[in-house]
Amino acid sequence: MVGCDSRFDTFQPNEVFSLALAKTRSTSTDLASQDASRVVEELYGTPDEPLWPDLPAAKKAVSDERNLFRSSGPVSSEKDGTHLGLFREHCVTCHALEGSGAGPASAFQNPYPRDFRHGVFKWKSTKRGHKPTRRDIRELLVRGIPGTAMPSFALLEPEDLDALVDYVVFLSARGEVERRVTAAAIDELDYGETSPVAELMLSSQSGTEGGQVVQDVVGRVHTDWAEAEEHEVVVPYFPELSGEQLAASVTRGKAFFHGKVANCAGCHGPAGDGSLPTLDYDDWTKEYTTRIGLTPDDRAAMKPFRDAGALRPRTIAPRTLGDGVFHGGGDSASLYRRITQGIAGTPMPAVEVVSESNGKGLTDGQIWDLVRYVQQLSTSH
Ligand code: HEC
Ligand code: HEC
Repeated sequence: MVGCDSRFDTFQPNEVFSLALAKTRSTSTDLASQDASRVVEELYGTPDEPLWPDLPAAKKAVSDERNLFRSSGPVSSEKDGTHLGLFREHCVTCHALEGSGAGPASAFQNPYPRDFRHGVFKWKSTKRGHKPTRRDIRELLVRGIPGTAMPSFALLEPEDLDALVDYVVFLSARGEVERRVTAAAIDELDYGETSPVAELMLSSQSGTEGGQVVQDVVGRVHTDWAEAEEHEVVVPYFPELSGEQLAASVTRGKAFFHGKVANCAGCHGPAGDGSLPTLDYDDWTKEYTTRIGLTPDDRAAMKPFRDAGALRPRTIAPRTLGDGVFHGGGDSASLYRRITQGIAGTPMPAVEVVSESNGKGLTDGQIWDLVRYVQQLSTSH
C-alpha cells in the first residue's frame, strides 16, 4: 500500500515559522499559512512527486530535474539499478521529510540536524550571506561533518550524491519560498484575520498582484542559488612557513586571538578551550525564542512551538579549539573563510579584512598568523 501513509503524502507546513510570525506581527497567520502551503504545493509538488517551478531562474539553480525524481519518493530501485528514494533512505531520520531538521533521530543530537528551510548553511566556500555552491554541498556529503551526527556518504555512487545535492537545493528553496511567501502575505498582501480581496490572494499563477509577489519570491530565492558561485570567498596565497618563521607567526597569531580586533578569546576562552559559559543560541533557535521576545527556558512560552514541532532550545557553545576536530575543515583555506566570514546562522562573527592595519580589521598576513595559531592549538595536546 505504497503512498497511503499520510505522513508522506504532503510536506508538513512550517507551523513553527507561522507561529513566530503571528507573534511578531500580532495577527493570525492561519489563512496566510494555508494559502502559502497550497501555492507552494502547486509550485513544488509533494514528497512523492516533486516539481521544479517553471521559471528561468529556477532552471539555473538545479543541475538535472531527474535528480529530484531519484531523490524523492519511497526507497526502491529501477530495473537498470538506479536507486530511487535516496533522501528517505539516507537523510530523513535526521533531516525529516520537509528538511526541517526535526526528524525522529534529531532530539538527542547536538548540534541539531540542519533545518534547510531557512536557506542558511554553515560550512561553505561563499560569503556569509550567500548560498553554498553545489560543490560545497557535494563535498560536505562526502566528508560528513566531523564532530557532529552528520555522517559521511562517501560510499554512495557519484550519481546518487549529485541527485542528493539537487534535492537539498530543492528542499531548501521550497522551504524558504514557503517562509517568505507566508511573510509577504501578511506584510504586503493584507492577509490577517480575514482573507484579502481576490487580486491580493497568494497565487501560483501570474496576472494578479498576489501572483506577482509569489513569482518575485521564487525568482529571488532561486537566483540566490543559481548565483552562489559568484560569491565565493577569494582566498589569498597561503605561505607555508617552518622553524623560527612559523613560531614567530604563531606568536603574533596568539596576540590577535586575544586582541581587541578579533577577540576570539572572548568566546573561545583564553586557551581556545571553549571554557567560557555561553547563553547564546543559533539563528534557527532564536527564531522561536529570543528574537520574538520569548525566554528559551520558559516552558509555557515554548509549549505552542514545541507542539508545532520545534526542537527544545539549546545554547550554542563556542568550540573547543584544542580538540583538533573541525566541522568545516581545518585546512588554511577553510579557516580563512571561517575567520573572514564568521559562521552563518551562529554567533561567530566575521573579522573585517583590511589592506593596512587600522585597528578595525586584520590584514591577510595577520589572518594567516591567526590561522597558524588556531592550527597549532588544535595539534598541541
Ligand atoms: C544521523 C543524522 C544525520 C543524517 C542521517 C544526515 N544528516 Fe545532514 N546534518 C546532521 C547534523 C547534526 C547537521 C548539523 C551540523 C552542524 O550544524 O554543524 C547536518 C547538516 C547538514 C547540512 C548542512 C551543512 C551546512 O553547511 O550547514 C546538509 C546540507 C546536510 N546535513 C545534508 C544531509 C543529507 C543530504 C543527508 C542524507 C544523504 C544527511 N544530511 C544525513 C545530521 C544528519
Ligand atoms: C561571539 C562569539 C565568538 C567569537 C568572538 C569567535 N567565535 Fe569562533 N565560534 C563561535 C561559535 C558559537 C562556534 C561554533 C559554531 C558551530 O559549530 O555552529 C565557533 C566555531 C569556531 C571554529 C570551528 C570551525 C569548524 O570548522 O569547526 C573556529 C576555528 C573558530 N570558531 C575560530 C574563531 C576565531 C579564530 C575567532 C577570532 C577571530 C573566533 N572564532 C571568534 C563563537 C565565536
